[in-house]
Amino acid sequence: MTDTHAHIRQLAEIAPIIPVLVVDNLAHAEPLARALVAGGLPVLEVTLRTACALDVISAMSRVEGAYVGAGTLVTPDDVTAAVAAGATFGVSPGAPDDLLDACAGAKLPFLPGAATATEAMRLNAKGYDILKFFPAEGAGGITTLKGLGGPLPGISFCPTGGVSPQNAQAYLSLPNVVCAGGSWIAPADLVTAQKWDEIEARARAASKLRA
Ligand code: 3PG
Repeated sequence: MTDTHAHIRQLAEIAPIIPVLVVDNLAHAEPLARALVAGGLPVLEVTLRTACALDVISAMSRVEGAYVGAGTLVTPDDVTAAVAAGATFGVSPGAPDDLLDACAGAKLPFLPGAATATEAMRLNAKGYDILKFFPAEGAGGITTLKGLGGPLPGISFCPTGGVSPQNAQAYLSLPNVVCAGGSWIAPADLVTAQKWDEIEARARAASKLRA
C-alpha cells in the first residue's frame, strides 16, 4: 500500500461522517469549518461546485484541527487547482484514468467513486481499498453494499448520496463501511443563514454514530 492509500484510510477513520459542503460565500468558510470541527467532524469535503470553492478550501485549511479535501474532482486540472489551494485529499463521484493519474502524480490521497463490482475491482487492482460508493441510495444502498461485501471483503466504502440521519447508522453498521459522506450536516439553507450552532449540533450528533 502506498503512502497516499494509507493516508486516505487514516482520514476515513477519523470520524464516522464526512460533511459534503457546497459553499458559495467565502466569508462562511472559517465559521463553518470551526463549527464542524467543534462538533467532532474534522474531515471536510468542499465540493468544487462554486466559484469560491478553491478559496474556501484555503480558508478552511487554516482552521485548527480541520482536514480539508476537495470534492467533485472531475478533471486533472481540478486536481492541480485543489492541491494548489491546499486540499489534503480529493474525492470524486467517479474514477476516470486521467483523474487517477493526476492524483497519483500529485501524491494526493484520493477517494475515487465506484458504484459496481467491476468499478470497485478495477480500483482495488490499482491499490485503492477505500472507495466512495456513489450515488449510495441510487446504486442500491445498503443492499448493494452487503452484496459487494461477500465477494469483495477487502474493499471498504464511504457511501455518499442519499445518506441521512435516518439511514446513516445502518450504513455505518456494515463491516465494509468505514465512514459515510453527507450534506445534511451543513445544508445550504443553514449555511446561508449562518446557523453555526445548529450545524455544530448536527455535527456532534453525527460524530456519535459509529462505524
Ligand atoms: C454530493 O456530492 O452532493 C453528495 O452526494 C451529497 O449527497 P447528499 O446531499 O445526498 O448527502
